[in-house]
Amino acid sequence: MGFLWGSFMLLCGVTLLRTEGSGAQQTKNNVPRLKLSYKEMLDSNNLVTFEGLANSSAYHTFLLDEEKGRLVVGAKDHIFSFNLLNISKDYAQIPWPASPTRRDECKWAGKDLSRECSNFVKVLQPFNQTHLYVCGTGAFHPVCSYLEVGKKPEDSVFRLESHVENGRGKSPYDPKLLTASMLIDGELYAGTSADFMGRDFAIFRTLGKHHPIRTEQHDSRWLNDPRFLGVHLIPESDNPEDDKIYLFFRENAMDGEHVGKATHARIGQLCKNDLGGHRSLVNKWTTFLKARLICSVPGSNGIDTHFDELQDVFLMSTKDPKSPIIYGVFTTSSNIFKGSAVCMYSMTDIRRVFLGPYAHRDGPNYQWVPFQGRVPYPRPGTCPSKTFGGFDTTKDLPDEVVTFARSHPAMFNPVYPINNRPIIVKTDVDYQFTQIVVDKVEAEDGQYDVMFIGTDMGTILKVVSIPRGSWHDLEEVLLEEMTVFRDPTAITAMALSTKQQQLYLGSNIGVSQMPLHRCEVYGKACAECCLARDPYCAWDGTECSRYFPMAKRRTRRQDIRNGDPLTQCSDLQHHDELSGQTILLDKTVYGVENSSTFLECSPKSQRAMTYWQYQHSADDRKQEIKSEERFIRTEQGLLIRTLNKKDSGIYLCQAVEHGFMQTVLKVNLEVIDTDRLEDLLHRDEEAAASVPAQDFSSPRETPNQKLWYRDFLSLVNHPTLNSVDEFCEQVWKRERKHRKQKAHLVQQVQLHQQQQQQKWKHLQERQKGRNRRTHELERAPRSV
Ligand SMILES: *[C@@H]1O[C@H](CO)[C@@H](O)[C@H](O)[C@H]1NC(C)=O
Ligand SMILES: *[C@@H]1O[C@H](CO)[C@@H](O)[C@H](O)[C@H]1NC(C)=O
Ligand SMILES: *[C@@H]1O[C@H](CO)[C@@H](O)[C@H](O)[C@H]1NC(C)=O
Ligand SMILES: *[C@@H]1O[C@H](CO)[C@@H](O)[C@H](O)[C@H]1NC(C)=O
Repeated sequence: MGFLWGSFMLLCGVTLLRTEGSGAQQTKNNVPRLKLSYKEMLDSNNLVTFEGLANSSAYHTFLLDEEKGRLVVGAKDHIFSFNLLNISKDYAQIPWPASPTRRDECKWAGKDLSRECSNFVKVLQPFNQTHLYVCGTGAFHPVCSYLEVGKKPEDSVFRLESHVENGRGKSPYDPKLLTASMLIDGELYAGTSADFMGRDFAIFRTLGKHHPIRTEQHDSRWLNDPRFLGVHLIPESDNPEDDKIYLFFRENAMDGEHVGKATHARIGQLCKNDLGGHRSLVNKWTTFLKARLICSVPGSNGIDTHFDELQDVFLMSTKDPKSPIIYGVFTTSSNIFKGSAVCMYSMTDIRRVFLGPYAHRDGPNYQWVPFQGRVPYPRPGTCPSKTFGGFDTTKDLPDEVVTFARSHPAMFNPVYPINNRPIIVKTDVDYQFTQIVVDKVEAEDGQYDVMFIGTDMGTILKVVSIPRGSWHDLEEVLLEEMTVFRDPTAITAMALSTKQQQLYLGSNIGVSQMPLHRCEVYGKACAECCLARDPYCAWDGTECSRYFPMAKRRTRRQDIRNGDPLTQCSDLQHHDELSGQTILLDKTVYGVENSSTFLECSPKSQRAMTYWQYQHSADDRKQEIKSEERFIRTEQGLLIRTLNKKDSGIYLCQAVEHGFMQTVLKVNLEVIDTDRLEDLLHRDEEAAASVPAQDFSSPRETPNQKLWYRDFLSLVNHPTLNSVDEFCEQVWKRERKHRKQKAHLVQQVQLHQQQQQQKWKHLQERQKGRNRRTHELERAPRSV
């Protein structure tokens, strides 16, 4: 058991320092309501994992096929096919290594044999009804092939054609670089790097019946060391001739666009029917345009904080296929200030920017300005179609249009996010966002977008944005934070299956699968279900379960917008439950006079505020315990310093969340006085005399007391017992100071935590040795 010692470790290690000051109430909205560790996820059957092969890694390229019920994953030297029902059940794998000759060549070229000279699969696209198109780095020699997957799930075919094609302009050479690709109508659109050195970046169209086409080479106005993250086809009108391909990437700001070096997030557009120019821009895009994507928050000093490092993009479809909502995940460029944000963009805003002024400058030493002159017709960036002007193909475009397009690939105005600000910002955490997928969920009070955000620490955040009053005032509610990989590792791929209601996650070390919802974890009461504010879940009259909009039930309760259990559940609930009379845990704790004790109490919901009540005995009036000299309320429980005999009594830990109160813990504290302590200290040596323990402290000795005795001895016996109190003393001082100057707390706390963690790790090591001794003592002592 060792609760005393255990509590002290907990207390002095980390958590105590996070005391509940007045600022806590605000920050509570930013913490995940539930936090589940990797072990908790596995134990609760909410995580299925594929731990990876010993000779593979980099499970980064995903292709979800809901119809066949498979997830195809490209990795180092392998392609996998997983069953969507359970990825660890019956998966197939195809080894696809680079040939020994290629590996040797790669090594001779000075590359790292184990990390770079393998075939990292980067492209995985549906080609026709029976085949996928796959490309890999091929040990710095890109290759592509066809993967047969069959027409129907029953076919259960999974076979790689032996024929390989040149993968240049499809997969990068360097496995560190990304490719964003999409195959439509037999043509592969890929943003990638097309040379060994990783300098020639371009957007290519290859395969199919047309001549390959690409972006202008060696022109940093077009692309400036880009990293491609996504390609999507978005129709512009009902006429397919107007279909556009949009690319998302980040790149270095154009020369003269920014003082010093900077990264900008970009959206680029192309016409699907672009065939290149006739006299100039031959086999180059004539309709390429790009614009900057802004995701920033105003700073207190008037300078905006920019999130420029675009990491991932997700398109949420709407009723209108021409207007998906674009979700972008961004991080900051600064090494010092780490932050992440999610911004949302509308196609209307994007199109407005592409129809706005082109960025123009008269020469290398000039500023970029909005182009004021006459724009040639048809306006560069417009697709040749019957909708706008009478051009059948880009080869017919007037020379002046092509010339203009060549020197004006960038738009002057940036695209601002919907509502001009991010929907999520995270700056106070040790992780950064890497990936996002979004699910549209129908709830009783409306439709919600639930975001699943992957981080570089192997965790998934489940976030729902809820309109407070209007769409202009969104409240971000962080429902859960779940660890889905055994080690902290960046989540690099995500796929969501609405059909299976599952989420699939890729990383360097493996693949994981988790359900989109686990309503039962929220608790057994209507109020708990309601407080969870999870659009997937509703109280169905007996438990918290999956909400189906079709099935109407009178007893069903859900309130995403307000999460108010009082209006939703009061008629269903026993009065006791709503007023906190139900006690989840009841226990007795012993303390020693003049020493400190810690009553641990952390409600399941990290959003709940706890407060403590004291009763001298069961019949006495309850009083609320305020933080003061001797009592400190922390997020993990209540610390009582210099225990007094008068402190004996009943302590109730109440958790309150949105008006719903629960008694999480009832502690009966008994304080042992110092006389008896002295007594026990003297008996320490005699204890070895192996007389059975009985009646050494009180006539009411119970097995609990034996436990206490052991824990107690382990403490009083400890040579550094003083330092425990000393430490707590420091904490007290800190706490007082904290009230005065909150501003510096964070830094101090972090530093202090590190120091204390070191110190207490050390102590714990020593304690382990000592526990062995006290354990022996436990059997030994007896009364005189
Ligand atoms: C998935 O399959 C594995 C292996 O057959 C099994 O142990 C596990 O329980 C399954 N998990 C679920 C959620 O079905
Ligand atoms: C990797 O190991 C697996 C066995 O775990 C084997 O089937 C596969 O062929 C190996 N792959 C390569 C590329 O050698
Ligand atoms: C799909 O493409 C592959 C590779 O070119 C070809 O062998 C196969 O016959 C095609 N299948 C269909 C149904 O067209
Ligand atoms: C406990 O504290 C009281 C008051 O400070 C003091 O008189 C007493 O000697 C202390 N007892 C022990 C055992 O330290």
